[in-house]
This record gives sequence, structure tokens and C-alpha cells, in this order.
Amino acid sequence: MAKGARKPVNYESFWVVPQLPVPAWQTERHTYDFGGANPGPDVMPSADLAEAAKQVIVEEHNEIVRYPPTYGPDRLRELIVHKMKVHRGIEWAGIDEVLVTNGSAQGIALAMQTTVVPGDVIITHRYVYQGVVRSFNASGAEIVTVDRDEDGMRMDLLEEALAGLKKQGKKVKFLYIIPSPQNPDGTILPLDRREKLMDLAEEYDFLIMEDDCYVDQTLDVDQMPPAIMSLDGGEERVIYIATFSKIISPGVRVGWVTASKPLLERMAGYKQDVGNDYFSGLIVAKYLEDHMDDRIEWLNDRMRHKRDTMLAALGENFGPLVQVRVPKGGMFLWAQFRDGINMSELEVPSMERGVRYLGGPQFSVIGEGKNYARLNYSFPSVEEITNGIAKLADVLREEGAIKE
Ligand SMILES: Cc1ncc(COP(=O)(O)O)c(C=O)c1O
Repeated sequence: MAKGARKPVNYESFWVVPQLPVPAWQTERHTYDFGGANPGPDVMPSADLAEAAKQVIVEEHNEIVRYPPTYGPDRLRELIVHKMKVHRGIEWAGIDEVLVTNGSAQGIALAMQTTVVPGDVIITHRYVYQGVVRSFNASGAEIVTVDRDEDGMRMDLLEEALAGLKKQGKKVKFLYIIPSPQNPDGTILPLDRREKLMDLAEEYDFLIMEDDCYVDQTLDVDQMPPAIMSLDGGEERVIYIATFSKIISPGVRVGWVTASKPLLERMAGYKQDVGNDYFSGLIVAKYLEDHMDDRIEWLNDRMRHKRDTMLAALGENFGPLVQVRVPKGGMFLWAQFRDGINMSELEVPSMERGVRYLGGPQFSVIGEGKNYARLNYSFPSVEEITNGIAKLADVLREEGAIKE
């Protein structure tokens, strides 16, 4: 056949429906990037990671030449068990209860694949990590949201929602919560609410997906309340999801899930990726065996300074036009702009002028929160924070969104 004479392919006959949205991961670089959720290039432990990588190649080359085991390197799982015990009060878990994943995003995906079918009910925060907004909406589940106050998700509202669902004959599959601290609002769920949540999970018989993504970014609290998983009954009810993205880098893609054996085995069955990047897992293990507590403390000193710089810049440039609670941890300011300032519509014009942030509706399963913006302070340098927030105010003035 002559080249170019073949019939075009009709893809419609091949698709699985419905079509999933493409994750809007950022590829462009912006001068002032307040959109991401990464520790910045200025805090990357490059020399120590290079040293760890060198040692891993020398010490573990016999392991790296093979396909990796499904559950990940034992050396890393041992470090994780130690971290969960010391930092999160999770005493019961051994390495058999740890499944290493491709970032915590894979942990969330596996937990969903294992439990959720279209029509199921999932409960979560009113405003929640934009990655789960996309995957929850695409799952065909009914998403019920619960509002918060300054201490995170309100248990009275949750109880009301659960009773209402029960009346309608609906059973909840799981509740997804980011308690320590929340993304985007930075609240930390106190111990009594964690205990109440466990009681409700038992009463209404649902699982809890505890996403502990930002637990190492504790800025102004002496002690983070223990993980929900560490409470009585947590061992069976909770799927605990965590990551090294926030203390090392999300480019490294190393996270994990801890759950009871029956749950973990199901999840591992969906993990058809022939194993995670074993090399990165070992580098993380080696590096953190030597540096974990120093690293977290050092990083948080810098985060605190960046957070305070951003709070000051917002005050200086926006005054009463923006309200923001001081987050006790995490990487974000959840900024509420005066009603009528549509931060969602302003996302693109801001990006065109070099300032990136995420508008509120990205964090809502029903697309509410137009006058909110999530501003990340961990990635930009202190100078970029000061200049970028001033630039954002210029953009809003140029666009006519603010007059003063
Ligand atoms: C709450 C939360 N969970 C999970 C993730 C996914 O992170 P990773 O897959 O890098 O561990 C993020 C990323 O920002 C997040 O904010």
C-alpha cells in the first residue's frame, strides 16, 4: 500500500467510558510559583542525597539489578515502621503492614480501587486536596462534604451527615481526612475529635482514609496529636497514607500505605506496576537513617520564616481585602479574598504575568470558593514571596479586581 493511504483509526470504538480528566500537573515554570506543594530548590539536601545514592549503589547493587519486591525495600520499610512509632504513636505496625508506593497519590488510588464502585458514598472535607477532588469526582461515587472550624472537621456536622445518610438507606464506604495538618486550610484535628471520629466510624461502619501528607511540617505546635490510626480500633478501621515528598522532594516519588493485613493485601493486588523505584526507596532510607530528625527541624525553621514572610506580604499588599488564619503547619496559606474578587477567574491572567497560585474551586467537589486562593510558601524563596505577592496585587489591580 502506498505510504499515507491507510484509513484513519476511529478511536471511539476503543475507549473505556467515562473519560477520566487529565491531571493538571504543571509543566510550565513561573517566576513566582505559589501553586505547588514542594519544598523549594533552596532546601533540597542535594549533597547528602548524592552521598546516600553513592553508598546505595555500592552497598546494594545486587538488589537494584532485580525487579523490586511488591512491598518495597525492607530497609525502607524498617525506617517507616520506626518513623510511625516515634512520630505518630503507631506501635502495632511492623514491616509486613507497610506497602511502599509511588508517592502517597498511589496509596490513595489503591485504596480507592480496592473499595469504591460507582454509587458508593465517600465523605470528606468541604475544601480538600485538589488531587482527590479529581479522583473522587471521576469515581462515580457520591461525595458528601463536611465543613470545619479552626480545629478542622466538625464532628457534630459529620454526625448529622451520617445520620441523614443512614435515614436514606445509604452506607458510607470511607471518610477521607487530612488531619495533621489539612490541605488547604492548615487546621490540625485535636485528639478528642480524632477519638469521636473513631467512635462514629464504628457506629456507622465505615473506613477512615487518614492522609498524613504534611505531618512533618509542624510549625507552631509542640506536639502533633497522635495519628488516628494509633487510636483504639485504628488498626482495623484506618488506611494510613503518607509520603516523603514533603521532606525530600515529590520528584523522588516515595510514599507508603499502612493498613491491616486484609486491607493491605487487597491493595497490593491492584499494584500491577512491577514494583516501585527501588533505587529511590533505598536512597530515601539511607539518607533518613542518618538525617531524619535534623532534616525535619532544619526544614521547619525555614518554612516558618517563609510562612511569616508571606503573611506579612499579604498584609502589606492586600490589607483588609484578604483574610487568612495563621496555619500551624503544612505548606499553604488558605487566603479568603473579599467577596466579589474571583480568584478562580484571575488564575490565568496571573499566570500570564508570572504568578501562579491555585483558585479555591479546585479544592471543592462542587467548584465553590471562587474568592479563595491557596498560596504555597514552601517552594518560592523568601525574596520571591515578597516580590510575587506584590506582583499579585498589581495583577489584581490591573484586572480591575481591586480598586484601592
Ligand atoms: C494531601 C495530599 N495527599 C497526597 C498528595 C500526593 O503527594 P505524593 O504523591 O507526592 O506523596 C498531596 C500532594 O500535594 C497532598 O497534598
